[in-house]
Amino acid sequence: ESISFQKTYEKYMRDIIPTLPKERGWWFETIVQFNGFWLSPTNSFKGAIFLHHHFRPRPTDIFACTSMKTGTTWLKALIFATINRTNFEFSNHPLLTTGPHGLFPFLDTYIFRNGDDDCQDSISSLDTLPSPRLFTTHLPYSSLPDSVTASSSGCRFVCLCRNPKDVLVSMWLVLKKSRSKELPSFSLDDAFESFCRGVFQYGPYWDHVLEYWKESLESPNKILFLKYEDLKNEPLVYVKRLADFLGKPFSAEEETNGVVEEIIRLCSFENLSNLEVNKDGMEKFSPEIIVNKSSFFRKGQVGDWKNYLTEEMAKCIDQISDDKLYGSGLTF
Ligand code: A3P
Repeated sequence: ESISFQKTYEKYMRDIIPTLPKERGWWFETIVQFNGFWLSPTNSFKGAIFLHHHFRPRPTDIFACTSMKTGTTWLKALIFATINRTNFEFSNHPLLTTGPHGLFPFLDTYIFRNGDDDCQDSISSLDTLPSPRLFTTHLPYSSLPDSVTASSSGCRFVCLCRNPKDVLVSMWLVLKKSRSKELPSFSLDDAFESFCRGVFQYGPYWDHVLEYWKESLESPNKILFLKYEDLKNEPLVYVKRLADFLGKPFSAEEETNGVVEEIIRLCSFENLSNLEVNKDGMEKFSPEIIVNKSSFFRKGQVGDWKNYLTEEMAKCIDQISDDKLYGSGLTF
């Protein structure tokens, strides 16, 4: 299977990638546009090919679907803690010793995270994970294979979005620290210009969000659509909604015993960002994506863009949001 994955990928690299529009990448040297979205040929694009050709969904699979910097780390922690709340004590919880990213696979790079020679083991290991399997992906909804998105698959998706101004600033600040020093410098002006044109990892950002939003309206039992800002403002409401959606509603007894509050506290920015496991060391997503664990925790606030973007930049992004989201019922 691994051999056939590598063959499929080589064929794409040879026949498809050279024909695609190319742009300077944020994280990588180049990104290519495939079916309307900007992907890294050696990472996200490769991941999408793997999913299409080799991923076997189970009806119990749960996917956390986000754009980069919308709060993926937080969502992972919340899903894991909610699903597994009867399996662990809060005082002796895996989240305290394993960072959120170590708890369940990031599908886009999972099978080649240790290099192409390890693909076979990684593909097999996906099949041995206990149900319900939890996954994350940044891929747009339309890039997921039909076998996963079809209603008949039974798979469920939790999408978390965030105000694009905070996404842009959060991403640019991470890149300032993590981007390879061999790549040319990438100023905030460069990032802003690129973001507004839609040239963003897995972007255009607005199109990515809209796909999940529209699908969530059509199939609310299949996709739960959440906003970072809502989670921040009313965590109790949205964590309960998350539990309902995941088919594990909180019992009256759990609510009385403060289990929802415990989960919120365990997964809070303050708690997670102060744990040794999230402060030290590196998280390796692929041979090319190795980042400081601490880079997933910066400020964790709503509206920090005000400290970086000019009024003019903010207006420009708001205008794009108005235009792109017009008539959709979604606002930032
Ligand atoms: P900021 O850079 O604005 O602080 P992702 O996990 O998708 O990479 O997103 C990272 C962003 O989510 C960062 O935003 C980070 O600080 C914030 N974040 C990480 N953990 C969080 C948590 N438990 N609660 C709220 N925000 C969190």
